[in-house]
Formats: sequence, C-alpha cells, structure tokens
Amino acid sequence: MSLYAIGDLHLHFQTPLKARAQMKERVWKNHEEKFKRGCEKLLTAEDTLVLVGDHSWGRDLAECEEDMRYIEALPGRKILLRGNHDMFWDANRTERLNERFAGRLYFLQNNYYAYGDCALVGTKGFTFEGPFYLNARGRIVGWDEKAEQHARKLVERELQRLRVSFEAARADGYRRFIMFLHYPPTSILEEESAFTAMAEEYGAEQVIYAHSHGEARFHDSIQGEKNGIVYSLVSGDYRKWQPLKVLD
Ligand SMILES: [Fe+2]
Ligand SMILES: [Fe+2]
Repeated sequence: MSLYAIGDLHLHFQTPLKARAQMKERVWKNHEEKFKRGCEKLLTAEDTLVLVGDHSWGRDLAECEEDMRYIEALPGRKILLRGNHDMFWDANRTERLNERFAGRLYFLQNNYYAYGDCALVGTKGFTFEGPFYLNARGRIVGWDEKAEQHARKLVERELQRLRVSFEAARADGYRRFIMFLHYPPTSILEEESAFTAMAEEYGAEQVIYAHSHGEARFHDSIQGEKNGIVYSLVSGDYRKWQPLKVLD
C-alpha cells in the first residue's frame, strides 16, 4: 500500500483548450495518455492517489463528465483537492460531490481522509501572484496593493477551511498529518506564511502542493525540508506525469 500525489492534470476531453502553455510545451503533448500509462504501471488497487487540484478545464460538472470518468478509471483510491480552475466544484457543496461520486471519487474540503494512522488534510490555499511592478533591471519595486488586500481575505478563508480539516482529523484521534494545498504554501518573495505556520502548529510531516507549472514557476515556493516538514511540488509537468510517492 502506497500514497501518491500529483496535480494540475488540466483535462479537457469535452472543452476547447485555451491554455497557451499546454499547446506549446512538449511535456503536455498527449499528457493524458502518458499519465494514465504511468499510473497503470505504478499503482495498484490498494494504493491512494491524491490529485492536488486543477483537474479539468470544464466550466461545470456537465463539461467535466469525461474528465471525471478518466480519473475514475485510474487505479487505486482517488482523492481530489480543489484547484483554482475547478469551476465544477462549489466549495460550499463538497458533500454533494461526495454523494454523487460515492465509492468512486473522494473530495477533500472541510474534511479529511485516513491513510493508515495518518490523516490526509487540505484545502485549495491561496498565494498573492501580483501584479508586481519592476524596475529596469527586473527587480520588484512594488505591487498592486488592492490586489494584495483581496489576497489576504482569500488566505484567511482558506486558513479557516484548513483548520476545519485538521480539527476533524484531530477530533477522531489522528496525530500524524500530511497536508495538501493546491497553491504553493508561500507567495513569491515569502519564506514563510500562515500556511507554513499552520503546518508547523499541527506537526504536519509533509506539505504537498501544485499550481506552479511551466519551468519559470517551479521554484516559486519551498521545496525540501524546512523546520522538520518536507515540502514537495507535484504539478504534473514538473513531475513529467509521474506521481510522487508520499508514503509507503
Ligand atoms: Fe494549474
Ligand atoms: Fe492552479
């Protein structure tokens, strides 16, 4: 039994592809096929695969049906986290998704899932991504303060959701945590954040995140060990469509 994670599949079986990166970069060519084949080699029915958000370009559930069927057909138990592009997923109606896909897909939001004696907790998260103002040398000299104010509100909301997830697991007696975020744990220019603080507060062993894709974005946030927590980026193109083994 193993736990794996990957993010940013950005499936589009039913929707026109609007993302420029996916049209230009080689890594995205037939990525659905590459990923499926890799999973079939790597995972068994006893394994768990956490998909760390941005599953589909579909604008609602009707436009995601084929994408969901593709995910359902992957081996193992599939747990999905909400990404910023997952328009089909109303954050306040996660229970409805869990009812609709009961026994097939598991949606992680304001709840947790058990993996052995570990609790898998998480939320979408949020990071401030600008706009930044640059000088002639390309150095950041300022940013849109209104946008930053708005980002602070979104961060607060996501922190509340993350705490609900941790507390639900803790109330059931869990003391070991793996924390999942769609967004990176820190914004550009930050070395720590309220998300890294919460991971430390609850003693999470690992923080797994995605969202940063395209080579220029791979090092936007923390990777490796910091204050006893291991941080890993698992966006699909960064992983070249091979899920990361998180735990045995
Ligand atoms: Fe994405
Ligand atoms: Fe994203």
